[in-house]
Amino acid sequence: MYYYFAPMEGITGAIFRQVHSRFFPGVDKYYMPFVSPGKERKFSRRDVGELLPESNRGVRAVPQLLTCRAEDFLWAADWLAELGYEEVNLNLGCPSGTVTAKGKGSGLLRDPEELDRFLEQIFHDVKIAVSIKTRVGFQSPEEFRALAACFRRYPWSELIIHPRVREDFYKGRVRMETFALAVEEGMGPLCYNGDLTTPDEISALGARFPTVDRVMLGRGLVGDPALAARVKGGLPADRETLRRFHDTLYEGYAEAFGSRHNAMLRMKELWSYLIWLFEENGRHIKALKKAKTTSEYEDRAAAIFQELPLREDSAAGWRTEPIF
Ligand SMILES: Cc1cc2nc3c(=O)[nH]c(=O)nc-3n(C[C@H](O)[C@H](O)[C@H](O)COP(=O)(O)O)c2cc1C
Repeated sequence: MYYYFAPMEGITGAIFRQVHSRFFPGVDKYYMPFVSPGKERKFSRRDVGELLPESNRGVRAVPQLLTCRAEDFLWAADWLAELGYEEVNLNLGCPSGTVTAKGKGSGLLRDPEELDRFLEQIFHDVKIAVSIKTRVGFQSPEEFRALAACFRRYPWSELIIHPRVREDFYKGRVRMETFALAVEEGMGPLCYNGDLTTPDEISALGARFPTVDRVMLGRGLVGDPALAARVKGGLPADRETLRRFHDTLYEGYAEAFGSRHNAMLRMKELWSYLIWLFEENGRHIKALKKAKTTSEYEDRAAAIFQELPLREDSAAGWRTEPIF
C-alpha cells in the first residue's frame, strides 16, 4: 500500500512537510495545499515560496491547482514542470462557498458537460502527469455515475476519491458504497481518502477493496503523525518524539513568520487533531486554545506532553461517525 499525506490548507505547508518527514518517515507523497493560478500568470511570493523545489528538498511533494480555466491550469502546469515536478494535482473537492461560487473545486462537479470540456482542454495539451482529487458529487452521490463516465475519458495518473459530496463538507458518514462503485467500474489507479485514523481501519479498507493499493490520510495523520510509519511496521509516536516534533515545528514557524504569536496560531490548528492522541484531554485543550500569550501557550503544551497519558490510537474526536 502507498500512503499519501492529504493537502490541508493552513496545516501541511512546506515547513510542516519538512519537519514531519524528518520525524515520521513513511509517507510516499505529500500533496500540497492548493494554489490558484490566475490570469496574471504569476503566483504570490508566498505560493512561490511553497512551490520552489528547495522548500521541498528530500520530500516527495505534489503541487495542487485550484482553477476552472484550462489556460490557467496549463500555464501553471508548464511552470511546475519547468521547476522539475512530474505530477500536478487538480482540486475538484474544495467545498468552500467562495470557491464553488466561482465554479472551482467541487463547483466543477455541478455540470459534468462543463467538467468534460475543461478536462478535454487540459489533457489535450498538458505535458506532465495530472492526478485528480475529487468528491463523488455536488449535492448527491447519484451524480457520481455521470462524473465517472467523464473521468473515464481521460488519462489521469491517479484518481483520488474523497467519497463525500460537497454538501457534506468534511462531516457525516463517508459514502463508501459510492467509492465501491468506482472500484467496481474498474477505474484505476484509485486512491481512497476520508476518515482513516488507525492502522486497523486502513487494513479493513484494504481488505474490503483489495485492488486499491493507495490511501490518502489527512486529519488522521495530523492527529497521529506516526500513522503512516506505524502501518509500515514502525513504532508508535512516543512522548519525547512528539514533543521534539512539536518544538521543531513551532520554532520553524516562529522563524519563518518572524512572529512567535503567529507560530502559536498555526500550532493551535494542529492541536485540534493532535490532542486526540492523548487521554483526558478536555480541560487542557480548552486552556491551550484560549492561550493569549506565547508563554501561556508553551506552558499549556508542555503540560499536555508531561501530564496526559498517550493513547495507542487517536480517539479521532473530530469524526462524528464511524468510518465503517
Ligand atoms: C483544514 C483543512 C484544509 C484542507 N485543505 C485542502 C486543500 O488545500 N486541498 C484539498 O484538496 N483538500 C483539502 N482538504 C481536504 C483534505 O485533503 C481531505 O480530503 C479531507 O480532510 C478528508 O480526509 P481525512 O478524513 O483523511 O482528513 C482540507 C481539509 C481540512 C480539514
